[in-house]
Amino acid sequence: MAYRLNFLLGAVVEPPIAEVHGWLAGRTPDRSLIDMAQAVPRHAPPAEATRHLQERLADPEIVRYAPIIGLAPLREAFARHLSEAYGGGIAAGNVAITAGCNQAFCLAMMTLAEAGDEIVLPLPYYFNHQMWLDMLGIHAVHLPFRPDRGGVPDPAEAEARIGPRTRAIVLVSPNNPTGAVYPPDAIAAFDDLARRHGIALVLDETYKDFLPADGAAHGLFRRDDWPQSLIQLYSFSKAFAMAGHRVGAVTAAPEMIEQLTKAMDCVAISAPRIGQEAALYGLGHLAPWVAANRETMRQRVEILAAAFRANASGYELVSCGAYFAYVRHPHRGRMAKDVSRHLAQDLGILTVPGSAFGPGQEDFIRFAFANVDADAMPEMARRLAESRMA
Ligand SMILES: Cc1ncc(COP(=O)(O)O)c(C=O)c1O
Repeated sequence: MAYRLNFLLGAVVEPPIAEVHGWLAGRTPDRSLIDMAQAVPRHAPPAEATRHLQERLADPEIVRYAPIIGLAPLREAFARHLSEAYGGGIAAGNVAITAGCNQAFCLAMMTLAEAGDEIVLPLPYYFNHQMWLDMLGIHAVHLPFRPDRGGVPDPAEAEARIGPRTRAIVLVSPNNPTGAVYPPDAIAAFDDLARRHGIALVLDETYKDFLPADGAAHGLFRRDDWPQSLIQLYSFSKAFAMAGHRVGAVTAAPEMIEQLTKAMDCVAISAPRIGQEAALYGLGHLAPWVAANRETMRQRVEILAAAFRANASGYELVSCGAYFAYVRHPHRGRMAKDVSRHLAQDLGILTVPGSAFGPGQEDFIRFAFANVDADAMPEMARRLAESRMA
């Protein structure tokens, strides 16, 4: 190859999930694989949703571009959904529909920050957030991991890191990779902080439908002037089990949406139209189905936690919730990647090493359990008890 590539991309890490799957090539396949690598729901969408999409395919409009920031009925339905869920005033003009929540993050960052600007990102981070910032030449300023606070970052530590080039603080709750659910007052403290400094609070709520208890995750949308600081990101991938349809959303001030529209037009023109139809159907018809899945996931969290508690493997559950368990491994001094590879190749448990989620995470392994049934949990714990590294 005679041409030069963008050196910023060259410095970005490889996609971790693909790397982890690559380890299976060296595995002794003497028992079934317990795949806890990727955060994907195991179940399919309900048959009624599939039937609806089949009918929608007959509409000639379905193969055309959608409006840049989404079908108007979907933006309205999502604004209504958020207003009901959070008790706030959210209008369709606050909503942009994106091709998944990863794209929502990418667009939000492009709209907020320039190369050389800073974004405050708590450790451990969702790896795609760091990867995207690295690609754009935006500096991620890390907050320390606080297992002593249940994995909830400390606003005072964030404040100490805010400078003239800081544009936003990014929070993910429920968190990927830790599963930690940030309490409403902690989220409010971060919003207060953002307002004091005239920066944005970007809140990724991909897992908002999998809270441990009913009720709103936070009260930020009830603040009349919430668009002053809050930018909420959402994914239809998890709650509606439609990751392949690629639908997500950014909810923010109309001025933010207006600028973000330019970026969306360039990268995708619009989110996939059939996916938007699926999301619209989901919001209108699938609330009971989503609630039933939420209950299943809550039970799975309990069963997983019990499996770790009952087990003398030395693998210690640090935090757990939504789709994730963050676990301290017993092999002190060993790289998380080596431990995770050992789990894959010797024990048939596919996980993601803590090192994928930022510096200082070598003692940790992420288990994403939405993809396995509850009856696999005791078997997983049994296998962990066999974990020996030479
Ligand atoms: C925190 C977080 N944000 C965004 C995404 C991506 O969601 P989507 O499939 O909507 O792009 C994920 C997926 O794992 C995630 O964990």
